Amino acid sequence: MSSSHTNLEGREQGRKTAPGPILLLGAPGVGKGTQAKELVKIWGIPQISTGDLLRGNVAQGTELGRTAKEIMGRGELVPDSLVNEMVAVRLEQPDTAKGYILDGFPRTLPQAGWLDSRLATQAGVLPVVAVSIQVDYNQLLRRITGRRNCPVCQTIYNVHGKPPKRDGFCDVDGAALVQRADDTEKVFEERMKAYAASTAPVVEHYRAMGRFAEVDGDRPIAEIAAGIVAAVERLRS
Ligand code: AP5
Ligand code: MG
Repeated sequence: MSSSHTNLEGREQGRKTAPGPILLLGAPGVGKGTQAKELVKIWGIPQISTGDLLRGNVAQGTELGRTAKEIMGRGELVPDSLVNEMVAVRLEQPDTAKGYILDGFPRTLPQAGWLDSRLATQAGVLPVVAVSIQVDYNQLLRRITGRRNCPVCQTIYNVHGKPPKRDGFCDVDGAALVQRADDTEKVFEERMKAYAASTAPVVEHYRAMGRFAEVDGDRPIAEIAAGIVAAVERLRS
C-alpha cells in the first residue's frame, strides 16, 4: 500500500462523521471542481462531476457525447433524462458506498427531485448535505477565461491565481494544458443565464430542506475546503 494511501486513510479515520452524499452547488467557475478534488483527498470518497463525465463522453464520441457536445458548446443544459441516467450508472459503482461528492449535479429542479427520490428509496443512506459556493460575477469571468485543464489527470490550473510551474504544461504528468471549449466570455454569459434560470432554484430547494451551508468561495482554496468540512461535520452531528 502506498504511503499516500495510508495517510489518506489516517485522515479519513480521524473524521468524526461519515461524509455521505455531498452536493457542491454554485455558478460556473466558483470552484466546485477544485473543492471536490480537495474533499476527495480529505474524505477518500469519489468526485462525480457531471461536466467531466459529459466531456468524457464527448471525447470518446459516444451517442451521449454527440448529443451533448453542441448543447455544452452553447452553454445550455443537457436534458435531464440523459444526465440522470448517466449519474444513475455512476452511482452503481461500489466506491460510492461511504459517500460521494456530486459536482455540478443536480442543476435543475427535476434533477433534484430525481436524486431526492432515489436516495429516499435507499435504506441506510445518509440524507444529502448541500454546499453552495459563492463568488461574484467579475471574479467568475476572470477565473473562467484564465482556467487551463490537464486533459490527462484533470488537474485544474489558472493563469492568474494557480499557474503551472512550466507555462502550458501540467505539473503532475507534463501533458500540454487545454482550455475548455465553453470557457469563452460569450459562452460563460449563457452558462450564467442557465444557472440563474435553472440552478438557482435548486439552491433554494436544498436551503429549504435544512442540511445546507453557504460558503464564501473568494478565499484561498485550502481555507474554503476547511470551511466546507467544518460545515458538513456540523450538519451531520
Ligand atoms: P461543468 O463542467 O459542471 O461547468 P460549470 O458548472 O460551468 O462549472 P465549471 O466546471 O466551469 O467551474 P467549477 O465551479 O468547477 O470551477 P473550477 O474548480 O474549475 O458543466 C459544463 C456543461 O456541462 C454545462 O454548461 C452543461 O452544458 C453540462 N452539464 C454539466 N452538468 C449538467 C447537469 N447536471 N445538467 C445538465 N447539463 C449539465 O475553478 C474555476 C477556475 O477558478 C480554475 O481555473 C481554478 O483554478 C480557479 N479557482 C478555483 N478556486 C479558486 C480560488 N479559491 N481562488 C482563486 N481561483 C480559484
Ligand atoms: Mg467544474
